[in-house]
Amino acid sequence: MKNIILVGFMGTGKSVVGKLLAKKLNRDFLESDDIIEAKEKMSIKDIFEKKLEPYFRLVEKEVIKEAAKRENVVISAGGGAIIDEENFKNLKNNGIIICLKASPETILKRTKDLKTRPLLNVLDPKKRIEELLAKRELFYNKADYSVDTDNLSINDVVLKIITFVVS
Ligand code: S3P
Repeated sequence: MKNIILVGFMGTGKSVVGKLLAKKLNRDFLESDDIIEAKEKMSIKDIFEKKLEPYFRLVEKEVIKEAAKRENVVISAGGGAIIDEENFKNLKNNGIIICLKASPETILKRTKDLKTRPLLNVLDPKKRIEELLAKRELFYNKADYSVDTDNLSINDVVLKIITFVVS
């Protein structure tokens, strides 16, 4: 069975949705950020601060490559992962790619108390969210399906994804 890959911006719900989806489908759940933290024995925030973003992206690429070799799993890929062509190809090779979307306002609401997102730890996070979304839109739109999560519960998003993957 093909993997189900959740992509999309920070705060769109990839982790919570992915966990519930995996549980409902009785599949393993892999989260690229968790694997990176375990591998590096460091938080994502510390990796960005101490080793800088290019290093993080290298480790992310390795982790995505390995995770994509699994079968029948649900994978949540960090928000910047599919901007990289090789990551996209590896994930797409054996997976259905679902992009979770949300408005900048929703993303801000969902991420503002979390200092764990180094890219949004800036003076004007709303502006940063809008800039990054604009830059990434093209890549997120390469997904097989997308779900606008603004007005949906976690369960609703999961049910929607299930209708895509069984059709
Ligand atoms: C990032 C998203 C984060 C994490 C890192 C960079 C991004 O993952 O990989 O902070 O570039 O959008 P989540 O989307 O799971 O928050």
